[in-house]
Parts: sequence; structure tokens; C-alpha cells
Amino acid sequence: MANIVVLGTQWGDEGKGKVVDMLAAHADLVVRFQGGNNAGHTLVVDGQEFISHLIPSGILQGKKCLIGNGVVVDPAVLTKEIDGLRSRGITISPDNFFISRNAHIIMPYHKTIDAAREKSQRIGTTGRGIGPCYEDKVGRVGLRFVDMLTTGGWRERIIQRVEEKNIYLDKMFGLPPLDMEAVIEEYSGYAETLTPYVANVSKMIADANADRKHVLFEGAQGTYLDVDHGTYPFVTSSNTVAGNACCGTGIGPTGITGVLGIVKAYTTRVGEGPFPTELFDETGEYLQKKGSEFGATTGRKRRCGWLDVVMLKNAALLNGLTGLAVTKLDILTGLKTIDVCVGYQYKGVKLNDFPADLNVLAECRPVYETMAGWSEDISQARSLDELPENAIIYLNYIEEMVGVPVQIVSVGAGRGNTIVTTNPFG
Ligand code: GDP
Ligand code: IMO
Ligand code: MG
Repeated sequence: MANIVVLGTQWGDEGKGKVVDMLAAHADLVVRFQGGNNAGHTLVVDGQEFISHLIPSGILQGKKCLIGNGVVVDPAVLTKEIDGLRSRGITISPDNFFISRNAHIIMPYHKTIDAAREKSQRIGTTGRGIGPCYEDKVGRVGLRFVDMLTTGGWRERIIQRVEEKNIYLDKMFGLPPLDMEAVIEEYSGYAETLTPYVANVSKMIADANADRKHVLFEGAQGTYLDVDHGTYPFVTSSNTVAGNACCGTGIGPTGITGVLGIVKAYTTRVGEGPFPTELFDETGEYLQKKGSEFGATTGRKRRCGWLDVVMLKNAALLNGLTGLAVTKLDILTGLKTIDVCVGYQYKGVKLNDFPADLNVLAECRPVYETMAGWSEDISQARSLDELPENAIIYLNYIEEMVGVPVQIVSVGAGRGNTIVTTNPFG
């Protein structure tokens, strides 16, 4: 039995979806534990592209897919995603898809508040209502899937919440009220469509483990978007680190057997906030174009820069990483030299740790080690010895600097464009 957490070590979009899809072949259950439809994972299977926001990336492997209590779910997006997958021949039924009873529901006012707040404090959110929904969860005024199940209470709960939020929208932002009857009608429809999927997710995981089955915990976003450990306030509103795989699904910490950190071979970031290795020159443009670095959720151009091992070392500690999966190595092909950030200089002094003060981070100058590049096409490599020597040197350097073994190398978007040296599921 293995319970493996797969998560991002940077600012998201590391290629988690691709790696989860590939590893799901070896798992019995795939479970999301945090975030919502701010996530956008692109999977390429047999040349066909699939973009998922909420449904775990294991669905294309025909695995049981679960949404944990730590996820915030927009039912409008979820129902659309279910319909979209079905129209492409993917089976989704109450036998293979489950939503935790305790998962919180994104309401229309969450999205309105998210957009309105961006005007006063710009974070560059995805505008999907994620932050306001988590606020209501912690403030104990959220709506959960279990509330849809209680006899007769769903309508009353919606009325209570919408009345309160309409006052807030008016007083705080001068916005018109939401149409109460329209919200009730829309969300009564979701209650009807989605209640068949509502389940006791933590019990399902415990039962699977009792039968010695493998579970893959699929992270969204990345370590530096974690609300506690990331570049606050330019973060998302959930804990993205491995510890939250426990809180966000209801498995005890002793149950986790491995944590695979996904490392993009360079760094990207969407939205606002400091980014020490960001490139504003033609190399940054090269990475953006060659890597097709556009957000899968909002379509925004991703900011691009060199790999930062100061961040990765810290991510290894925060997540207890047991393995690394390096993705998009093929995008570096063709660069004469490749820089890797090995430290920061702040006011002439070398820092070895990732600073918590964003003003310090914003003024850090990266200290680079320059490595030689390669020009050979690596997308067909299926073992390390098929890679050019300089690509192997680059991977070995990452492994050595971060102190965690590279177990998977991704050399293309397709499921098959992958080198696996150690399968975390054994
Ligand atoms: P996620 O949010 O971490 O799942 O990552 P995204 O799906 O948002 O972004 C990663 C993008 O890179 C997607 O378009 C993937 O199809 C693509 N991708 C993943 N791994 C590789 C790789 O090794 N090489 C190339 N060229 N593309 C990749
Ligand atoms: P995946 O799972 C990259 C970023 C947003 C913004 C900040 C807060 O595809 O890696 P939010 O809407 O969460 O309140 O926005 O977090 N962000 C992401 N960036 N990939 C993601 O998900 C992200 N999800 C949120 O751009 O800066
Ligand atoms: Mg993404």
C-alpha cells in the first residue's frame, strides 16, 4: 500500500496534471485535497488535449476520483466539466466520482467579492471566488455539500447567506444585490444533480488502505502559493503543502508514504508578486513561447525565469519531499547556456534561505551558476542514458543541490514522453 502526495514546488503549473495522469495508472484512488477551479491542468493523451479544473487528473485512467473536504467546489464549473468529459466518451458516475460531504461550495457572491476586491488589493487572482469561499469556511458561515442533503434546509441556508452578502456587496462595494430567486433556483438544481456523488471520502480512503490499495493525493497550485508558507499576500487561500493532504481529505499524517515534488525545469508565475529569477529579456520570451506558457484557467501569459534552487530546497523541507519529477526539460533544448539560481544577494549580503519579508525578496538579486545547454531533441528519450550529457549534468545538479532524488523526468506533454527511474508506487 502506498499513499503518495504529488504537488507543485514552485508557483503552480509545474505539470502536475501530466504527472498525476501518468502515475494514476498505478493508483486505485486519486484524491484532490485543496484549491478549486483556480487550478488548470492540461493533459495530453493520444494527441488529444484535456483541461481539468476540479475533477482529479486520474479520471482519464478510469480510476476512482475523489474531491476531498479541503477543496472548494463551484458546482457550475463541476457540472460543466462532467458534461464536457462525458461528451468525449469519459465515464463519470456515482461509481467512479465522489465529493466529500464536508467540501465547501462556491456561491455567486464569492465570485463577485473576489472580482471587487481585486480593484483595491491587486493579487491577480483567477477571479473564481476561491479566497472569499475559504474565508467563509474559516468564518463558519460557508455552505457545504452536506447542507444539500439535510432535509428541507438547503433553501433556507441559501436565503440566509444571500441576504447577508447582499448587504455586504452594497455597503462595501456599492454593487447591486444578487437575485435571490435566481440563486435559489440555480443551486437547487445543483443539489439535485450533485447529491448522488456526495460521499464520506475519508472513510473511502481508509477502506481502500485497509484493502492495501494505492492512493494518489493530487495537489493544486504550488508550494509558493501556500497561504502560510508562500509569498503572502500574493498566494492562494489554501495550504498547498503536503501536510494539507491530511487535513484536506481526512487521513492521518502517519498514512502518507511519499511526497513527489513536481519541478518545472525553469520557473513560471501567474499573477502579481515578487519573482527573483524572472527574465525580462529574449530568454524569458523564448521560455514563454516555446513552453506555451499561458494560464490554462485564465489564459494569461505566465511570467518566466530560471530555475531557483533556493526555492526548491525550502520546498523540500516544507513538504518533506521524497522524490522529484522534473518536467518540461525539453523546453530548455536549444539554449546555449542555462542559469540556475543558487543563492540570493540582498544589499550585498548572500542569503541562503528564502526570505519571508516580501520587500526583501523583491530586492534580492539571484546568484547564478551557469551550466552548458544541449541542442539534441530529447522528447523521445525513455531512459536517462538516452539524454545528452549536459541534460544529465543539469538533472544531477538539481538532485544534489535539493538533496532529493529525481525519480521522473518529463520530456514532452504526452503521457509517453516520460522517463521514470523510480515509480513512487513501487
Ligand atoms: P499543472 O497546473 O501543474 O497541471 O500544469 P499546467 O497543465 O497548467 O501547465 C503545464 C503545461 O505544460 C501543460 O500544457 C502540459 O501539457 C505541458 N507539459 C507538461 N509536461 C511537459 C513536458 O515535459 N514538456 C512539454 N513540452 N510540455 C509539458
Ligand atoms: P495550478 O493548479 C498558477 C495564482 C493566481 C494568483 C494567486 C491567487 O494550475 O497550478 P486565487 O484565484 O487562487 O485566489 O489566485 O494564485 N494561482 C495559480 N497560479 N497555477 C494555479 O493552479 C493557480 N491557482 C491560483 O494567479 O496569483
Ligand atoms: Mg495549471
